[in-house]
Order: sequence, then C-alpha cells, then structure tokens
Amino acid sequence: MKTALLSSRLATRSLKSSHGGNGHGPRHARRASCAPTAASVPHAFAWLKRPKHNLIAGRWVPAASGKVFDVFNPADASVLARVPDSDKEDIHRAVAAARRAFDAGPWRRMKPNERGKLLWRVGDLILEHADELAEIESLDNGKPRAVARVADVPLAADLFHYMAGWATKIEGHTIPISVPYAPDARFHAFTLREPVGVVGQIIPWNFPLLMAAWKLGPALTTGNCVVLKPAEQTPLTALRLGELLLEAGLPEGVVNIVTGFGETAGAALAAHDDVDKVAFTGSTEVGRLIVHAAAGNLKKVSLELGGKSPNIVFKDVGDLDAAIAGAANAIFFNHGQCCCAGSRLMVEKDVFDAVVAGVAAHAKKIKLGPGLDPGTQMGPLVSEEQFRRVTNYMHQGKQEGACYVTGGEKAGGRGYFVQPTVVKDVKPSMSIVREEIFGPVVVAEPFTKPEELISRANDTPYGLAAGVWTRDIAKAHRIAAELRAGTVWINCYNVFDAALPFGGYKQSGWGREMGHEVLEHYTETKAVVVGL
Ligand code: NAI
Ligand code: MG
Repeated sequence: MKTALLSSRLATRSLKSSHGGNGHGPRHARRASCAPTAASVPHAFAWLKRPKHNLIAGRWVPAASGKVFDVFNPADASVLARVPDSDKEDIHRAVAAARRAFDAGPWRRMKPNERGKLLWRVGDLILEHADELAEIESLDNGKPRAVARVADVPLAADLFHYMAGWATKIEGHTIPISVPYAPDARFHAFTLREPVGVVGQIIPWNFPLLMAAWKLGPALTTGNCVVLKPAEQTPLTALRLGELLLEAGLPEGVVNIVTGFGETAGAALAAHDDVDKVAFTGSTEVGRLIVHAAAGNLKKVSLELGGKSPNIVFKDVGDLDAAIAGAANAIFFNHGQCCCAGSRLMVEKDVFDAVVAGVAAHAKKIKLGPGLDPGTQMGPLVSEEQFRRVTNYMHQGKQEGACYVTGGEKAGGRGYFVQPTVVKDVKPSMSIVREEIFGPVVVAEPFTKPEELISRANDTPYGLAAGVWTRDIAKAHRIAAELRAGTVWINCYNVFDAALPFGGYKQSGWGREMGHEVLEHYTETKAVVVGL
C-alpha cells in the first residue's frame, strides 16, 4: 500500500531483512555477551560508568536513606547501573523543590518566547545526543538500538520542539457577558490560562525517554514545575535527560527526577498533599490506585492506561500483503509492549487463513537477540516480571484450548526472550482475548457479519486504539465512527505524532497526551471580570 507509514515500512523492512544468515536463523536468542563496552556503546560508555543520583533542586543527590537498587540489562540479566531507591522523604524534598521553583522561581514568569526557546534547545540537545540516548535505551529496555535511534529518540526531540511552539500560544478569551441581575452595569471579562502548579509524573518502561518527553513537554511549556518518577525497570534515559535539561538552562527545581519503586516513591508522589496534579501512564490497576491516592487533596489526574486493541482486516483490503505486514507491525513493534498494540486481529472469514498464515510467517522470521546486536529485530521483554507475566498468558491460552499457529514459548538465552506468537481458535471468554498481555502475542478471530463486528470489536473494558484495513473508504469511516477508541488507524497502524492527541476511552484512561488537547491538563482557567 502506497500510504504505508514509517513504522510499518520499518517493521516490514526489518522483518524481511536478513542479517548474517538466511533470515530464518535460530529461533532462540543469541548468547553473545551483552555487557556494555567502550566498543559496543561508544557514545554512552562513559556516562554509564558514572554514579547515578536523583535530580532535586538542580543538584544530583543520593537517596536520603542512601539506599540504591540495581538496574538490569534484560538481554542477559546483568546489572547495568545502580540508582537511588527513593522513598517518601526523597519525594517530599523533590516536591518542596518544585514548589519553591513554582512559587518563587523565574519559570512561570519567564517570557513565553524565552521558555519556548529553552524547550526548543532541549529538543536540539536530544538530537545532538541521539546515538548516546539510543544506546542507553537499548541496554536498559531491551529494544533494538536501531529502533530507539529512528523512533524513540527523534519522537522525543520532536515532542519538545512541538511543545516549544505552544509556549507563546497559551491564550484565553475575551467574553462578552450580560449579567441579568445588573442591567445597568458594564463589564470587561476575559480568561487567563495559568499553570496548574506542581505536577507529579509517573511513567512506564516501554518507551522510557519518549514517555518522559510526552509528560515533561506540555507541563513545561505551560509553566508548571515537575517531579518525574521513571519506571524502576528503566530509569536511565530519564536521568540523562535531566542532565540535558540543565544544560539547556532550565532553572533549578523546575524538573526534579526521583528514581524508585512504584509502591514507595510512586505512591508517595501520587498521594502528596502539595502536588496539584498527577499524570500517570501504566497499568489500569495502578491507575485506580492513583485515583484513590489523589483523592486526599483532590489533585487533578490524567491517566493513560492499558489496551486490547482490535485490528480489523476486510477481504476488500486490496493489497493483502501490506495488511499482513501492518498487522505484524501492530503487534510485534516494541515486542508487543505497547498500550495500543493491535493484539486482537479480526479478519473477514474469506481471507482469515491467508492473513493468519502471513502474520505467522512474519513472526517466524523475526530474529531475536540483544538490542545492541545490529542483526536483532526483536529484543527481550523488559524484565523478569514481565517475562513471567507473558509466558503465563501463553500457557493459560493453551490450557483454555486455543490453537498456537506459531510461538507460545519462551526463547533461549539468559535474557527475557519470548517467541513472537500467533494464536487462533479463541473464545471471547479466554483470558488471552480479554486481558492485556503486553507481549508479542496476537489472537486472531474470523468474522463473517459486518453488523456483528462493531459490538465484538468494542467488547472490551479498554478503548485505546483500533485499526481498520479496507479499500472501501465509506465503510472505513463508518467503522471508525462506531469504534469506542481514542485512536483509529485506517490502512496503517502505530502512527504517532506530537500534534496528534493520544489517549483512551473507557478504562484506557482519562484525558489525552500530545496535540493541543494535552495543554488543558496543565493549565487552570482564571476568569477575570473588570467593572467599567
Ligand atoms: P505499573 O503500572 O505497575 O508501572 C507503571 C509505573 O507506575 C511505574 O513507574 C511504577 O513504578 C509506577 N507504580 C507502580 N505502582 C504504583 C503505585 N502504587 N503508586 C504509584 N505509582 C506506581 O506497570 P507494570 O507493573 O510495570 O506493568 C504491568 C502491566 O501494566 C503490563 O503488563 C501492562 O499490561 C501494563 N502497562 C501499560 C503501560 C502503558 O503504556 N499503558 C506501560 C506499562 C505497563
Ligand atoms: Mg506494577
């Protein structure tokens, strides 16, 4: 399909290419050593060796308790770094620093064009350090370095550049008012958009740098001060980004970065009484905990949560190969660790066998290996916990009677590798059909009656994304209108842009990330009335 998008093209190309073999190489992970060396990570090696601290009030400091925890390379379970194991006290200090910066610092009083220029510089610095950031991300998360280099890092830079432009465009309205009980009075009324204040941001591990950018960009362009808590599995690029923020000239205390676990540092941030708003991306289960924690001081909440997204292929798609490559990309991109992964493949019966066989053929060709290996097309899952979660689902599906066309097992190696998996003969009640697996596992179901399709596609507590593949443009639009999802991709999948709002219906979240929609979450509206 001519309109194939970058991610689809990349996925197709990488799934088709062969590196150092026949493209059908061993289905198990390579056992090459993944320990970072000056040769394997030339741009990041020196930084990785340096001690890691929290960023609080413009200074790098250890946890108040002095405790640290290990950060693992998921490709071989080796220890990459040690970072502060922060708790309530560190969160308290970071929130106090953000409050001081907000109340007394220059940030929210800075001229909007100065704030914009500073954020633009952050985007530039990310691009200047793109190789280094991609190396760190690949080691920490497991994703191929090449993917981090062409997707995660440039998208993060673009987000800062896009948000930099908004700094000068945060506008209110002038509002003609009538005031029925004051017939003779005249007024001049207008609104101001002001920053919310101190914002707590809790992010996940699937796109560590990019999620930090999605959160920080809109908060900063609107003049807020932030405490960011990266995921315990992948804190490293956030710490490197903290250094780049200081290099760009961000005043002290405007962004504070505190590493730690969800139950300790994360929970303390969500519950803190001096935090005005919390923004969270992660599991729906923790999303609920955040809502409860926020109730104490009624802080504002935005949530970007899980998904179980339908990807619908009609027989009139035209280019079936493009749809097959798109369906493979929809589930296997980032090892299926995407909240919007096309994990339910719904295919019109006449082409069901061909599409399932095609996606399975793509799955079989994917080369697993450490993210730093240039031949790798899919790295390990992010952690042992995630590895156990995904392999449990794989086994559960078998027990429930589903048919595994390919995959369904862990792959070899010391790291957290699993086989790209395609499943059919599923029932709507099965856990692998209903629950978010967050791994490279797609369940395929045929459909015959288009009138039943919508209710089946919407039969999920989630509502994050959906895909539709057809040449019939009227049908595509009708279906897009009926799907209860925050994003609908037609003849494409996994297309993201800083200008495009992203977020969920139903239990996939509250609010939107990116675009101008996100700015609503980071501003308060003040109505000002002048008696004339
Ligand atoms: P999680 O929701 O536990 O973790 C996400 C972030 O929340 C991390 O920074 C973590 O430290 C923090 N957190 C955890 N418990 C917290 C608490 N009680 N209070 C405040 N913050 C807390 O996700 P996890 O355990 O890493 O993955 C579990 C499942 O969540 C995955 O299998 C996947 O289904 C889903 N998930 C969805 C993501 C998305 O992009 N929507 C991203 C990551 C996970
Ligand atoms: Mg968790």
